[in-house]
Amino acid sequence: MLQHSFVLDALETTGADTFSHFEILINEHRRMSEQNNQQVSRLQQLVPTIGMFHTHLPLRRAFEVYNEKHKLTKRQHIQISFNEIRHILNLAQIMALRKNVPGERRHPLDIFAPELEPNSFVSCRKSDDVEIADGDSTVDKDIPPGQLNGPRLITFDGDQTLYADGANFDSNPRLANYLYLLLRHGVSVAVVTAAGYEYNVEKYEYRLSGLLHFFRQRGLSNAECARFYLFGGECNYLFQLGHGYRLQPVKEYGPSGWITSTSFIKESPGNWSEAHINTVLDLAESNANETLTELNLRGRIVRKRRSVGLCPNPGQEIPRESLDELVLRSHEKLNRMNEGNGPGIPYCAFNGGTDAWVDVGNKRVGVQVLQSYLGIPVQETLHIGDQFLNTGNDYAARDVSCCVWIISPQETTYILKLILRLAGVSVILPDENGKNDGVSSSDDRSDSGERQSMKIDFGEIQRRSQVVQHMDVYTGDLIQK
Ligand code: IMP
Ligand code: MG
Repeated sequence: MLQHSFVLDALETTGADTFSHFEILINEHRRMSEQNNQQVSRLQQLVPTIGMFHTHLPLRRAFEVYNEKHKLTKRQHIQISFNEIRHILNLAQIMALRKNVPGERRHPLDIFAPELEPNSFVSCRKSDDVEIADGDSTVDKDIPPGQLNGPRLITFDGDQTLYADGANFDSNPRLANYLYLLLRHGVSVAVVTAAGYEYNVEKYEYRLSGLLHFFRQRGLSNAECARFYLFGGECNYLFQLGHGYRLQPVKEYGPSGWITSTSFIKESPGNWSEAHINTVLDLAESNANETLTELNLRGRIVRKRRSVGLCPNPGQEIPRESLDELVLRSHEKLNRMNEGNGPGIPYCAFNGGTDAWVDVGNKRVGVQVLQSYLGIPVQETLHIGDQFLNTGNDYAARDVSCCVWIISPQETTYILKLILRLAGVSVILPDENGKNDGVSSSDDRSDSGERQSMKIDFGEIQRRSQVVQHMDVYTGDLIQK
């Protein structure tokens, strides 16, 4: 539809209306799904693989805001790209997750104001009223720590979302600061990653070393730390950040055990048997071996308790096409097995960029378990990830969560800045003396002395990063030099 307008040189006048039309189609699709209407919506006729929309999406507003900044409709030779549409959808989703505040007069364009000027910043009062700062009379008063006006649970993919593929979260103070601010403002944050090292805490801690170190330096309180989770192996190994900024395995069974208390979810780990798990892994392993030989790939097969991977040999690469081929072969075989009398447990076959895996479980289950464990509904959950093609592992999260599709940690950083700014939280990175730290002066911990020095120990970060450089991220083993 946008293409027609572009060719006719009519985007300037019809672009926004086209996005309004998309909104109408989405609303119709949502209504029909909610009513369990058996008819196929117009949107589904156009896009048969369309998923569920968990919130309304203000696409027209998002387009207007984006266009105001990037002037897409002024272009004469280059039409709106896939990436730009992805950005507009992401923006609409972030806007939708913010609850309307009665009496709000702020214009959405403000979120794209150039770098924050104290007197042009959107301020939120304790009463929750939000207004445009209109000059010297309005000071940049940040909201006190508490419940943020936005998503209540944000789940993050790891590789390529929080850190580059195969790397770790070492020193990224801006992103670390935004995650810190989310935790401080009442948001539950969870890394939901395919990387599975069973309950070997140190291996996950190595990969998140810079982030955990930042939390320590900022003196995140125990209650705030407790809002940080990590789900390893998609939905297999659950950790919570505890005392001493260490990840701690969450109890699995018995009263309040996460597996026991979420076993009412049909697909959750409490309902899998070891026999079924091994049936899936045996098929995945034989398929990976067959493909490795047939396509003459320079890789090795890694089998773990809950996954099978095809990983490149050290210093070698496996072509993307071959990884996709293996993923699609896996889908085909596992689906066929489940259509027959297969185990019917959830799995995820995906291309991780340099490797391909079949995991038992997937991010749909991971996000759903967290929602149930924390009592947070779908409409207030956001999953941020980079793998939303049908050969990716974030794709599964779409069913149970609002989603934002990013392509790099830089884009994740930008999205978090947007969420925080829309909620009125100051996002200025603190200096070494702890000034401008984005929390109110009523912060009780400044008095209690619990807050620690702002000086970042780069030596420690470097030491941990070096360990990760010598860690095989596929297996979690340390590589002997
Ligand atoms: P994610 O993007 O955070 O979900 O992480 C995906 C990456 O984790 C994969 O591409 C692998 O490199 C790595 N990984 C390590 N262990 C596993 C595993 O057991 N299953 C799947 N991926 C794994
Ligand atoms: Mg990823």
